Amino acid sequence: MAAPPTDLPWWKTAVIYQIYPISFFDSNGDGIGDLNGIASKLDYLKDLGVDVLWLSPIYRSPLADMGYDISDYQNIDSRYGTLEDWDNLLKGVHERGMKLMMDLVVNHSSDEHDWFMQSRLDDSNPKRDWYIWRPPRYDPSGRRQPPNNWKAVFQVSLVAGSAWEYDEKTSEYYLHLYLTKQPDLNWDNIEVRDAVWNLMKFWLDRGCDGFRMDVINIISKAEGLPDAPVTVPEEPYQHASIHFANGPRVHEYLREMNEKVLSKYDLITVGETPFTHDTEELAAYVLPKNKELNMVFQFELMDIDSPLEGEDAVPLIYKPWKLSDLKDIVRRWQTFKRDEGFWNAVFTENHDHARSVSRFGDDSTDEWRARSAKMLALLQVTQGGTQFVFQGQELGLKNFPRTWGIEEYKDIASQNYWNKILSKRTSESGGAEVDMSDVLDGFAKKARDHARVPMQWNASSNAGFTTGTPWMRVNEDYEVWNAENQVEDENSVRAFWRKLLKIRKDNVVLMAGDFVELVHDHERIFAFVRRLGDQVALVVLNFGNEDVIIQLDSPTLSWSSLQLEIGNYHNKGEVPIADGTLEMKGFEGRLYLFR
Ligand code: GLC
Ligand code: CA
Repeated sequence: MAAPPTDLPWWKTAVIYQIYPISFFDSNGDGIGDLNGIASKLDYLKDLGVDVLWLSPIYRSPLADMGYDISDYQNIDSRYGTLEDWDNLLKGVHERGMKLMMDLVVNHSSDEHDWFMQSRLDDSNPKRDWYIWRPPRYDPSGRRQPPNNWKAVFQVSLVAGSAWEYDEKTSEYYLHLYLTKQPDLNWDNIEVRDAVWNLMKFWLDRGCDGFRMDVINIISKAEGLPDAPVTVPEEPYQHASIHFANGPRVHEYLREMNEKVLSKYDLITVGETPFTHDTEELAAYVLPKNKELNMVFQFELMDIDSPLEGEDAVPLIYKPWKLSDLKDIVRRWQTFKRDEGFWNAVFTENHDHARSVSRFGDDSTDEWRARSAKMLALLQVTQGGTQFVFQGQELGLKNFPRTWGIEEYKDIASQNYWNKILSKRTSESGGAEVDMSDVLDGFAKKARDHARVPMQWNASSNAGFTTGTPWMRVNEDYEVWNAENQVEDENSVRAFWRKLLKIRKDNVVLMAGDFVELVHDHERIFAFVRRLGDQVALVVLNFGNEDVIIQLDSPTLSWSSLQLEIGNYHNKGEVPIADGTLEMKGFEGRLYLFR
């Protein structure tokens, strides 16, 4: 067995807290969260055990995709504040011994970025080749068609679903894998890459400590931009990730980024890598010998309750999931290429997914909600890798109610999907009113909007998020479920997270130990052992609301040497395991450590 590493780099031991700035805290009453609001909550975060803040984009942006559409990479959107506010926030973060990570969104810019405005002017403009322009194709009847059949990820409607937008001015199409307002940059052009290295250096030289890199695995597209295979024959445009994810030059570009920028600083880097199920593909970004990124966000767990169309998950439809699938995913990644230095980024929530307690736990009563949120905290924090907590996750925040109508779903991805299904059904019904309740069921479970409602700070109006009118409706449970209540309550979900993060810090086995699963075939219980040198941790989790008696079996474990460290029913030192038998209550979770 490997000896405990004593010299893990800071980004491996760190707890990262993701802030969705528009919904975190509003300091000036305009209904929009801002940098000064974040700066005023640093003590709350420090107290929770956070080491690094990751800010979702705060750059100048028309907010077509909530800031993942940037019109000036070197400025702060005035709704969030100023560069001076950012410097001030950074100072507060550093003074508390924490670090600050920015979101780097460079697969695409906004169409309102000066680069794109120049690029579209005429086809001899020096910035023309900074984006991906192609002439039309013509069908047999002479009608103009996009250069290929790729579908945009946030497709607008059945007919308007192409990843290409025609631009009258120069009679060519530009590529946008996401919204028409998010044109893809042409990474094959070295000037584009240099511009990206420069904007990264701008933030690093200002004191930023790292980057989360948005959809970084789609920056290199397949040679010749070939048509995608037809997986949904009734639609004109097709899922094309096989031609744009993990493309031919992506590793070359990331190595160049590493050599020219990353290696010159002491940073945390995490790449977002959707559309990928092949573990080998993802390893390539992370293995230290390749000199690319520290880690990636893979989406195996996030896609577990989504049906597939071709290779691509359809995120807004709910598909029931099985515990055995969840176990397979966790085990696969926890044991993946450890000997080659693969390192995990562990998360169960972010701004693109609904609340974990509503997906993987039970939010039907306050009691089950608190129990299952704590059980899920155990699932996450006891996994090896760097920990990522999304704002409000530490409070057990849940999805907003099914009774809210489509008008409360502000996300363009939700809106576009709704409109696509609505127009399809309306045309099928010949214009008669159609039933959309099943779509709303899916949204109530899965939409990104649930993660984007205002943070719940206290029981005052608008959950203490703003004194004005919040940009998005506040969830209805804030009078009970809020940070202030939970900070005061030693049995709260937040108190549990706080203890757990501290336990992780004190026990390196939880960060870097190996991983062996027990009772694999059990449908309710997920149990695993982590070891590092002579340190041992045993985790047992009940994923249902019924009591379960479980007999664990492990030839190498001495049950009597294990002591309960933390649980969501019992206190430290209680419920010893005599002979490997445990009586687990509904959604019970326990962590035992070797004594
Ligand atoms: C990433 C972001 C998501 C955004 C998309 C397009 O997946 O996390 O919020 O919509 O990229 O930029
Ligand atoms: Ca504000």
